[in-house]
Amino acid sequence: MLDKNRMPKHVAIIMDGNGRWAKKRNLPRVMGHNAGMQAMKEIVRRASDLGIKYLTVYAFSTENWKRSEEEITGIFRLLVKFVGLDLGELKEQNVRVRVFGDYSCIPARAKASMDEMLEETKDNTGLQFNIALNYGGRLDITRAVNHLAEKVRSGEITGEITEDMISRALYSGDENGDVPDPDVIIRTSGEERISNFLLWQAAYSEFVFTDVLWPDFTPEIFEQTLEQYQSRDRRFGGRK
Ligand code: IPE
Ligand code: IPE
Ligand code: MG
Repeated sequence: MLDKNRMPKHVAIIMDGNGRWAKKRNLPRVMGHNAGMQAMKEIVRRASDLGIKYLTVYAFSTENWKRSEEEITGIFRLLVKFVGLDLGELKEQNVRVRVFGDYSCIPARAKASMDEMLEETKDNTGLQFNIALNYGGRLDITRAVNHLAEKVRSGEITGEITEDMISRALYSGDENGDVPDPDVIIRTSGEERISNFLLWQAAYSEFVFTDVLWPDFTPEIFEQTLEQYQSRDRRFGGRK
């Protein structure tokens, strides 16, 4: 049973397996992404109901530009559709949406939709739902380093650069409300790798892997993965 008193503060998810889900059904890949978006919607709702404070999902990586133009266009069209259909519900659930990643260069309509979603939910106080979009952990760290280098050049930072300064310069830092590091990172579809997600922030995250393909990932399975997380013994380098 899930212990409601020991819920993770921050859950991050690598939503993988949409393509294989579609292939199994002889459908185009974009249909897999469509089904994946439905799954995401259900998980956001359940995370919000469970009182989780932060949910971060990996929606599009800096490496995903290597895919076909057809697939990329399809993914960003779906994003516009998601905002159109679900913004109202997110507002009702008091969800605040943020973006991790450089979404300035995604297709214009998708960017406009994201801007609308950020603006419309910015005062909400419930679940903070971070969408990692054109996100890469290395991009995140590189951007933070450049930001700090600029502060050194301008004289705003005079002493040493600290871990705390780096954390605060990341997408999860000051600009998005100082999100705590993820307690647990879930990856679906049987792959067991990080694929350039939250590299700095994952230092002490628990990992839960499941063979379930993302579109088949239900709120019930989500709760089971959280139970698995709760069974772990987190030591953070200390002794028992
Ligand atoms: C994850 O599903 C979604 C994105 C990366 C956008 P995939 O599209 O990677 O699905 P598989 O791994 O090919 O099955
Ligand atoms: C990671 O999945 C990125 C997202 C889920 C958005 P990928 O399918 O792109 O990762 P690899 O290529 O299997 O490592
Ligand atoms: Mg994949």
